[in-house]
Amino acid sequence: METGAFHYRSGTLRCDDVELAQVAGRFGTPAYIYSRDRILANFRRIAEPLRRLNGLACYSVKANSNLAILKLLAEAGSGFDIVSGGELRRVLQVAADPGRVVFSGVGKTSDEIDAALAAGVLMLNVESAGELEVVESRSRHRGSGAAPVSIRINPDVEADTHPYISTGQTIHKFGVPKADALELYRRAARSPHLEVRGVACHIGSQILDVDPFLRAVDEVLALARDLRSHHIPLQLLDIGGGFGITYRDENPFEFDRFFSALECRFRGQELRPLLEPGRSVIGDAGVLLVRVLYVKETQSKRFIVVDGGMNDLLRPALYGSYHEILPLEQRDRTHSPADVVGPLCETGDFLARDRSLPEFKPGDLLAVLGSGAYGFVLASNYNSRPRPAEVLIESEKMRLIRPRETVDEMIAAEL
Ligand SMILES: Cc1ncc(COP(=O)(O)O)c(C=O)c1O
Repeated sequence: METGAFHYRSGTLRCDDVELAQVAGRFGTPAYIYSRDRILANFRRIAEPLRRLNGLACYSVKANSNLAILKLLAEAGSGFDIVSGGELRRVLQVAADPGRVVFSGVGKTSDEIDAALAAGVLMLNVESAGELEVVESRSRHRGSGAAPVSIRINPDVEADTHPYISTGQTIHKFGVPKADALELYRRAARSPHLEVRGVACHIGSQILDVDPFLRAVDEVLALARDLRSHHIPLQLLDIGGGFGITYRDENPFEFDRFFSALECRFRGQELRPLLEPGRSVIGDAGVLLVRVLYVKETQSKRFIVVDGGMNDLLRPALYGSYHEILPLEQRDRTHSPADVVGPLCETGDFLARDRSLPEFKPGDLLAVLGSGAYGFVLASNYNSRPRPAEVLIESEKMRLIRPRETVDEMIAAEL
């Protein structure tokens, strides 16, 4: 896989107009590098057809929550999907319009609900009867208008993805079973402290097939019709996120087919569609740059030990995810199998396994592609390793958007 933003020119890997080796020279490794142009192109590919349906794209902050990226997207007209008080603070920090923010998540605390109501979010996607009660009581306590809510429905649709990121079946903790929805909506509609605004669903992440989305949309549209017949009209239908990207050789998600199917369903409807894309906006717009520390061979394997590991990019260890690995200097020399491993004390600390790769020597630089989403946000200080730097490439310029964490910063709050 070689994405538009990351390409070789004269044998050297670049992000847009900048040589990645220069970025490594200036900011060191490990470092996340993102392409502004790619982020915006990815966002517009979703937001523009949606706007034609009077819909709204709410970037899912959990995928990558760097303030510079949120600001970029807010300026491009994005709404935001948040799942915590911390994410709310981030979107407010970049002066995003809270009236374009949806608050999802199964475990919102009273404090988080208060903060969202005070900010004036578009809606809280409520995930249980218990949460509806808490939202109602916090809204009553605030005494300044009804809290805007939608109920997140679990549409019981199976999506072909990793079990950890599949969310739309009754075995999963997310949403409310379809059978319970009408009763909850009735309860919400009766309360003077709640304003029913919409319905939500989200069936999982890294889904490449359009059909499960359409099955979920059809389920929630049927519910919306049912609610209308009970005099509970909805304004917004939040379809969630989850559009898959190409990490290896997967066929790209068919956005054209998806949007024409949405058009058929939403044309002439008062309901506005809302999407919460995360990975499909930022995933292929980012790489993790790492440097080779050592090369070692055992009887059975060649190991390329690099300076970035599972604390920097957890996805391979957590999900067994595949990330393409490219040398910064293109080479035609013979390839042989190797594992690319990090410095942490876990056998699960790998970035690639049994991959056909050229020879490397200490000091060589590698790019781990497709690392923009669920990369830095999942980084940790495991093994007391400071978190990596983040750099945004803006055409021919590089901008540090998060300095590398220092050891002093890492331990500063501890007593
Ligand atoms: C409710 C909700 N919306 C949106 C997303 C974003 O998904 P993705 O990054 O796959 O688009 C997620 C992630 O799992 C989610 O849980």
